Amino acid sequence: MKDKLVQAARAVAANAYAPYSVYHVGAAVLDGDGRVFVGVNVENVSYGATICAERSAICQMVAQGGRAIRAIAVATKDGGTPCGICLQVIAEFCPDIASVDVYCVNEHGRIESMTLGDLLPFGFKSDMVPKKEGRD
Ligand code: THU
Repeated sequence: MKDKLVQAARAVAANAYAPYSVYHVGAAVLDGDGRVFVGVNVENVSYGATICAERSAICQMVAQGGRAIRAIAVATKDGGTPCGICLQVIAEFCPDIASVDVYCVNEHGRIESMTLGDLLPFGFKSDMVPKKEGRD
């Protein structure tokens, strides 16, 4: 599954819309049902409107009913790790951060394997906010 996920991230990176940074990112998420969802970074001339590849893949998963992330692969030229906002969004769907694998792959196919716990050991958690009636 690791290879399949990494391959999906590498393949989709070609579709990144990154005319400003020219830094193409592809992401592939494996959900709790074994489904794979892909995403790319989508930049905007109003730079702050840019969405990262990881969050774009997670939005695909959520739209299809997925609520649990088992692993995520991120493909870039230099094997970069997910940004802080993306780590927080990944954590939203990962109750056990130690069991979620993050694979970062560079343009040569070199893979660095980490866990979400390695990258975001002290992230803000939903049990830190009071439970509200009707919250999912
Ligand atoms: N980017 C991602 O897609 N994921 C990250 O985790 C870090 C950054 C994108 C945003 C922007 O389009 C480009 O990479 C340069 O920052």
